Amino acid sequence: MKLIDGKKISATMKDEIAAEVIRIKDKNGKVPHLAAILVGEDPASQTYVNNKAKACEKVGFDSSNYRFPVDVSEKELLDAVTFINNDPDIDGLIVQLPLPDHIDNQKVIQHILPEKDVDGFHPVNVGRMTIGLPSYVSATPYGIMEMLMRSRIETKGKNCVILGRSNIVGKPMSLLMARNDEPGNATVTVCHSKTQNLSEITSRADILIVAIGQPEFVTADMVKEGAVVIDVGIHRVPSSETKSGFKLIGDVRFDEVSKKASFITPVPGGVGPMTIVSLLMNTLKASKKEIYG
Ligand code: GUN
Repeated sequence: MKLIDGKKISATMKDEIAAEVIRIKDKNGKVPHLAAILVGEDPASQTYVNNKAKACEKVGFDSSNYRFPVDVSEKELLDAVTFINNDPDIDGLIVQLPLPDHIDNQKVIQHILPEKDVDGFHPVNVGRMTIGLPSYVSATPYGIMEMLMRSRIETKGKNCVILGRSNIVGKPMSLLMARNDEPGNATVTVCHSKTQNLSEITSRADILIVAIGQPEFVTADMVKEGAVVIDVGIHRVPSSETKSGFKLIGDVRFDEVSKKASFITPVPGGVGPMTIVSLLMNTLKASKKEIYG
């Protein structure tokens, strides 16, 4: 079994981005700039946004955070998006989700210029990806494709089973794995909560991508000998083994599945670290006008 080390791969990618930023700065006198909108005081969202700002600093990007109280009106938020859309210094904008219930998430997302939508959530980017046009791909699927590519995992002609059909992971993942490109060219099956005979299907997977949101859902009996297993889940659970009293686990029973897998991502240190670096990659592409010219 080989561990796919997301920490190491993401560190390499950050070094590559930082080197590119130096080149861009020498050429244009400007560095890539990522803006984030954060509404409310949700601790997890605050941590995500702070981590994104730290990652920007690490690779030499500029970053700006726009913070709003939880009772901000939809109009105020849309106006902020317009303001950032019109700021030529800002290359990419993310609106940290979830937003409070009184705000229409889709309305806000669709207000972001597709050219600045480095989260890849705007329907224009989703649609472009679907038909194979250049687009921003959302961070988790992008990170997984990079992991597969950089670990030299063959995907062509393989059976790929995806557990989960969410808009930001399962759905885009299925399109990317089935596309006529590398990585891609896999035969893809998407499973979800209504799927029957799940174990039978997962047991045929050469590549199993798990984004089902249930702790240790995938057990060894569901996995084929020699499969590549990508675990997107992350859950904080109580533990007597650690000083802090909790530990992080994935959607896969790592201890038993790792014995059968040829490659597997750990939790933590697998898919997780790849997501922020994917956002940085998209912001770099935005600053270089790589997607929309
Ligand atoms: N909330 C959880 N994940 C994400 C993400 O990738 N982007 C944004 N904007 N919000 C999130």
